[in-house]
Amino acid sequence: MSEIEKQNKEMEQVFGEHIHWGYWENPNSANGSIEDFQNASKALSKKLLALANIVDGQAVLEVGCGFGGTISLINEEFHDLKIVGVNIDQRQIDRAKQKVFQKNGNDISFIQGDACKLPFNDNSFDIVLAVECIFHFPDRNHFFSEAYRVLKGGGQLVLSDFVLSFDFPNLFNMSLKKSGIPFYGNIQLCTCEAYESFAKENYFEIEEIEDINESTLPTYPIVKKVFSKSKMGYLLTQVAEWTQKSKMIRYKNLAFKKI
Ligand SMILES: C[S@@+](CC[C@H](N)C(=O)[O-])C[C@H]1O[C@@H](n2cnc3c(N)ncnc32)[C@H](O)[C@@H]1O
Repeated sequence: MSEIEKQNKEMEQVFGEHIHWGYWENPNSANGSIEDFQNASKALSKKLLALANIVDGQAVLEVGCGFGGTISLINEEFHDLKIVGVNIDQRQIDRAKQKVFQKNGNDISFIQGDACKLPFNDNSFDIVLAVECIFHFPDRNHFFSEAYRVLKGGGQLVLSDFVLSFDFPNLFNMSLKKSGIPFYGNIQLCTCEAYESFAKENYFEIEEIEDINESTLPTYPIVKKVFSKSKMGYLLTQVAEWTQKSKMIRYKNLAFKKI
């Protein structure tokens, strides 16, 4: 196997199902293996799903669904759901369709679309999920208003994000933009205070903000390993690690309820 084939295989094992950080209940238990990381990335989805209070028979929308890793877990655990995955990238949608097979009476579909222009009628879903992707969306406030529109009354919006701890989000985002470096694709970060405003402006109440920063840190050794042959990928991962370890940015799970 050539070096490139080896790297591709490793990337597939690490991010081929879930494209997000891992969660370790006990970060000291992480052993740096790919299998351990795969379990941890499932655990991160499960941690978010625990906030979502899904009940059999409901309608669940996952925005920015990637390859359908979280939908696959929902499909295993619940019955008679209508589950829709939306992603901006048609290639990811095609792959999700190939990888996820509906079971337990669930009705699953994957649709190409933009988080800020959701192709659904008002009041269609009980839960909207967005796992580690909101920082790519063109406008968080707009996404909140779209989530509000498609949710039924009392429905939940549950998401995870890298949240800025300090009060100068624009300074951070401007420096990122000025550097011209595509940081894992284009991203915009915001503070918890900004989330409070998005919630208020769009008639959501905040149900829970869970700080799981320390429990995601064992992600870094494995991602650095995957990017060991890409100077830029490795460097960006080191910067991200520093921001999370210095607590400048903290990994949080957030749950909102449509009032
Ligand atoms: C870090 S990945 C997370 C994927 C998935 N949620 C997971 O946890 O495996 C971010 C995802 O957001 C998607 N994305 C970016 N911009 C989007 C947008 N405007 N609307 C919908 N999806 C978007 C990307 O294509 C990518 O799949």
